[in-house]
Formats: sequence, C-alpha cells, structure tokens
Amino acid sequence: MSEDDVTDLLTEAYIDELETVMNYLTNAIVLDGVHAEEVKSSLAADVDEELEHARLLGNRLKQLDRSPPGSEAFEAGQSSLQPPEDTTDVESVIDGVLEAEEDALETYRSLLEAAEDANDPITEDVAVTILADEEAHRTEFRGFKKEFPRD
Ligand SMILES: [Fe+2]
Ligand SMILES: [Fe+2]
Repeated sequence: MSEDDVTDLLTEAYIDELETVMNYLTNAIVLDGVHAEEVKSSLAADVDEELEHARLLGNRLKQLDRSPPGSEAFEAGQSSLQPPEDTTDVESVIDGVLEAEEDALETYRSLLEAAEDANDPITEDVAVTILADEEAHRTEFRGFKKEFPRD
C-alpha cells in the first residue's frame, strides 16, 4: 500500500466521522422513554469525540498536502442509524451505533496497516489514538445492549 491509500482512507474516515456526528446528534435529540436518557447523554458526549476525530484526520490530510473534503464529496451510508420512527425504540439505535463503531474499527485498522506499509508513523499514531476511542464507544454500547432481553 502507498501514500495514496493512506490519504484515501483518511478522506473516507473523515466523511464517516461527520456522518456519525450527524446521526449521533440527531438520535441524542429524538429518543424518548425510560431507557433513553443514558443513551442520549452518551451519544451527546460521543458527538464531541467523533468531531475531534474528524479534526485529527483533516489536520493530517493537510499535513500530507491534501485537503479534507467538503460536503459535495459526501455519500451517506449509515442506514441503520437513521432516527427510528418509534422514538422509544432505543435498542435499534444501540444496534446502529454498534454497527457504526464496528465499521469505524475496521476503517482504522485498515488505516493503521496502510500507514505502516507507507512508513508513515504520524498517521499510525492518529489511527491508534482514534481506535482506542472507538473501542471504548463499542464497549459502552455493548453494555447498553445488555439491558435488552434477547429475542
Ligand atoms: Fe470516531
Ligand atoms: Fe465512535
């Protein structure tokens, strides 16, 4: 893998983080019911962390003499994180978050590998930093998921 793979993955991850910001923000606003409050405050806190990830990725692109993309490059992919029609359906949002965090972990593992191959330790450091945060997010939402009975 080359430097181009690194910048492609940085760009893809930047867009994904901003989509995550939008969906976590929306779900932190819309959910209702007895199971909702903890999940909403966790999502609201994660919005700030995901935005910081986008900032780290964008700054790394700039250092590599590239520009992070604007909104015209945006392609939505998080269908399972759309706000639920039933606003008390907290579990569907938890499932959507777990899927988004798994996708993020996969992207950052690929970024780490590409950066290693391209001999780019600075990007490796960015990937490891963000990976640690995404693992913590996944752990938190796995915990929320345990409150719901198995079907
Ligand atoms: Fe993130
Ligand atoms: Fe995350």
